[in-house]
Amino acid sequence: MTDKHFTLTDPESGTETKLNRYDPTLGPSVLDITSLYSDQGVFTYDPGFGATASCTSQVTYVDGEAGVLLYRGYPIEQLAEHSNYLEVCYLLLHGELPSREELAEFDKSIRTHTMINESLLRFFNGFHNDAHPMAMVSGVVASLSAFYHDTTDIYNPEHRDIFAHRIIAKLPTIAAAAYKHTLGQPFIYPKNDLSYCSNLLRMFFAVPADEYEIDPVAAEALDLLFILHADHEQNCSTSTVRLAGSSGTSPYSAIAAGISALWGPAHGGANEAVINMLEEIGTADRIDEYVARAKDKNDPFRLMGFGHRVYKSYDPRAAIIRNMCHRVLAGLGQQDSPLLEQALKLEEIALKDEYFIEKNLYPNVDFYSGIIYQALGIPKSMFTVMFAIARCVGWVTHWCEMVADPNSRIGRPRQLYNGPAKRDYLPVSERN
Ligand code: ACO
Repeated sequence: MTDKHFTLTDPESGTETKLNRYDPTLGPSVLDITSLYSDQGVFTYDPGFGATASCTSQVTYVDGEAGVLLYRGYPIEQLAEHSNYLEVCYLLLHGELPSREELAEFDKSIRTHTMINESLLRFFNGFHNDAHPMAMVSGVVASLSAFYHDTTDIYNPEHRDIFAHRIIAKLPTIAAAAYKHTLGQPFIYPKNDLSYCSNLLRMFFAVPADEYEIDPVAAEALDLLFILHADHEQNCSTSTVRLAGSSGTSPYSAIAAGISALWGPAHGGANEAVINMLEEIGTADRIDEYVARAKDKNDPFRLMGFGHRVYKSYDPRAAIIRNMCHRVLAGLGQQDSPLLEQALKLEEIALKDEYFIEKNLYPNVDFYSGIIYQALGIPKSMFTVMFAIARCVGWVTHWCEMVADPNSRIGRPRQLYNGPAKRDYLPVSERN
């Protein structure tokens, strides 16, 4: 509770409303407007929710002005340097870093949930080989809600734990099955003595006819990318998971809704769009032309991987990925990357341009990630799937936080209706 208030006065009637003001641990305070409609008869209007806190949360903090990102209070730079993806998963889910024993137990549980029901594998046969992997993955994840009935009581904390471990463990397996389906290659079963990212690489790239050697540089690079993508507070896909989940639906369906929201090019689909854009630009001498197009109000083209709703400075995740690019590419024997050179040049030109400076448009997490995915041999159509695998833990954590919150209610926004006023139906014979 709070003793701080904002007083809002209707200038016509003079009616006063006291709005509670809540102060967070970090960041701007919020005004509680829940009494506004009953006191003043008005709603608030905030399309895109740019100024609305939809929930309280203890998971992740972003300061868009300062370029700060904290998971459970820990700076992303420290986690990227010292932690690993599974430890970050534990941190997000439980709120604290694990002890050695807790981490070993968590790791073991994730490893033992990697297989998917054989009947689920047959779902892929219903898709054409050219189906986009995001379409297959969202569909198959939604189908998980047809399984596990006896362990999906959302109000049972143990069931929520089982769900969390299952979906985190199975998503790479489902993603790999989708990829193998597009190639027409046999599915590769998970191998539980491998780490999360090594297992993923093997399921993606091994074939039964050959030995497959996991490149530790590739596994490490993937692990780092996954840490950086693990959560980002109330972004579009996470808010979608919360909204879908707020009705009490199956958590697998809520996660599938998040995957669908992530797919769009304004969100997680941007990593694929960035590489398409860089390839379309082709040569450095054409960058100016594309920057000019991005600034032209009559042209729908935008610089993909640039701009962010919250970051008005350099996205700290983009800075980490940009720094890792040279190291990872060299480690993979691909130091001469024309695509990376092109991206660096584009960034240099855009960041000196008045339009981008004035609108605070900087590279976001998606600008450089595709360059690493491509160097790992992951095709463009799978980039957003990789993002979904990494972000799954964030979605699950927020869903758990919401379901466990006794104050959470079904999400149901209001509207500013500007359609027709009430009118009477006319039979078709009387219409001209
Ligand atoms: N290229 C050119 N202009 C841009 C760009 C861009 N990438 N991004 C924003 N702008 C301009 C807009 O035209 C707008 O100009 P105006 O004020 O003159 O109308 C202004 O900057 C503000 O942009 P909005 O779209 O209002 O900002 P919003 O917060 O709604 O959108 C978004 C953020 C969707 C990320 C946007 O910057 C964008 O479309 N970027 C490209 C797609 C992308 O990279 N998405 C990934 C985001 S990161 C993530 O989701 C994981």
